[in-house]
Amino acid sequence: MIPAAKISEIPNFGKKVVPVSGQEILFINIKGTFFAVENECPHQGSPLSAAIVKDGYISCPRHGYRFSLTDGTCSDHPEFTLKTYPVELRGDDILIDLG
Ligand code: FES
Repeated sequence: MIPAAKISEIPNFGKKVVPVSGQEILFINIKGTFFAVENECPHQGSPLSAAIVKDGYISCPRHGYRFSLTDGTCSDHPEFTLKTYPVELRGDDILIDLG
């Protein structure tokens, strides 16, 4: 687990892209629960920083594929999976495990 972002930088229902070890990671705050996913759609690579997050899913702005925030699965297109990463909160830090 490495510190990657600050809790105070990501408002409720907000997102932030942070470079971590050469990768762009998108952090998402939903009512104090934080998620970390790759910022590149596995379908055709659109950035997900402008994606809509709703009901535990992130919807790609390009073609609308919906990925689970918890495991990255896409029920309509199961051949595509978004990478998700475990996060842990410590003080004001968000730690991430890139695996
Ligand atoms: S690029 Fe994301 S759904 Fe097509």
